[in-house]
Amino acid sequence: MFWSALTVGALFGQYASAQNMLRFGCSQLTIERADPLVSPGQNPAPHTHQIIGGNSFNLTMEPAVYDPPSLSTCTTCTYSEDFSNYWTASLYFKSPENGTFQRVPQFANFGLQQDGGMTVYYMPYSAKNGKMTAFKPGFRMIAGDPTNKQNKYKPSICHRCLGNGEGFAPCDAKDTSELPTKFCPGGIRATIIFPSCWDGVNLDSPDHKSHVAYSNGGGLGTPNCPSTHPVSIPQVMYEVMWDTGKYSNTAWYGSGKQPFVYSFGDSTGYGQHGDYLFGWKDNSLQKAMDALPAGNCANANCGVLKIQSAADAMKCKKAQQVVEDVGQTGKWITELPGGVAVN
Ligand SMILES: *[C@@H]1O[C@H](CO)[C@@H](O)[C@H](O)[C@H]1NC(C)=O
Ligand SMILES: *[C@@H]1O[C@H](CO)[C@@H](O)[C@H](O)[C@H]1NC(C)=O
Repeated sequence: MFWSALTVGALFGQYASAQNMLRFGCSQLTIERADPLVSPGQNPAPHTHQIIGGNSFNLTMEPAVYDPPSLSTCTTCTYSEDFSNYWTASLYFKSPENGTFQRVPQFANFGLQQDGGMTVYYMPYSAKNGKMTAFKPGFRMIAGDPTNKQNKYKPSICHRCLGNGEGFAPCDAKDTSELPTKFCPGGIRATIIFPSCWDGVNLDSPDHKSHVAYSNGGGLGTPNCPSTHPVSIPQVMYEVMWDTGKYSNTAWYGSGKQPFVYSFGDSTGYGQHGDYLFGWKDNSLQKAMDALPAGNCANANCGVLKIQSAADAMKCKKAQQVVEDVGQTGKWITELPGGVAVN
């Protein structure tokens, strides 16, 4: 959940540089059925996403042309030069009593101040000699796969039942691929870890994946990028803190059952996925990555980056471009947006 420099040092002793990473909050920008990466221009996209980052987010974001830093006027992220967009599916509670849905809101991660959204990390696990190459303008990628129905992405995509003792590495033995099948008093944390190696050429690929690779079979990387993808890039990770604490009826959980479903109809959690669209201004991300080894750039306090107040980050909002009710906080809806079937 929260890693102080100390816990991180203890947990990742083998990665000396891991204490220096960016870890920051981004508040909600919008929640809507938009997906410029997988379904560009489609209005509406098949399922609901919760989206954070620069307010130039739109339905097309044409590859190689769209420039979020010049088109955005604000960002929901702590680092105000970060106009990237980050998104995942939304989570819904489906009442076992009457089948109606309530969107599960997100809460701020430990030590951060934000309104919904996620925690974003840029980590140096694949860095050889401390060096990493920041993403280039136009870079995009996806981790996970909404069509996946098996326990297949565990080191990269996982869920943690919070409120049972925290403080372990992401996607470790305490975490499950599945949505937890017991009541989680402290909420459910979904983790999405992206690859940390790049082919050095392509900003994207038809599946939005093959231009990047994990150095370690998935999950947190090592400084061993494969020869096909030799360039060490920052390892991006999302943490989504789902506020499930009020769904406390223990009859809803156990023997393989639990009451939550992702917006694309997945009630297992195996299909959880994340989308990344790079949009840092000029060379700001490279500057930060270069400053990591010296130790004066860590978490949400990276001295070489511009930092905005939580209040300013929370003020940045974007009206839905796909206007519909995706489940306002606390409201019950009779079906998942788009009439997506639960499976
Ligand atoms: C997205 O923004 C670009 C650049 O401003 C614009 O050309 C395009 O029409 C927009 N697309 C939509 C669907 O609004
Ligand atoms: C449906 O069930 C939930 C509890 O599972 C309850 O809070 C809600 O009020 C119910 N809605 C209706 C319309 O009965």
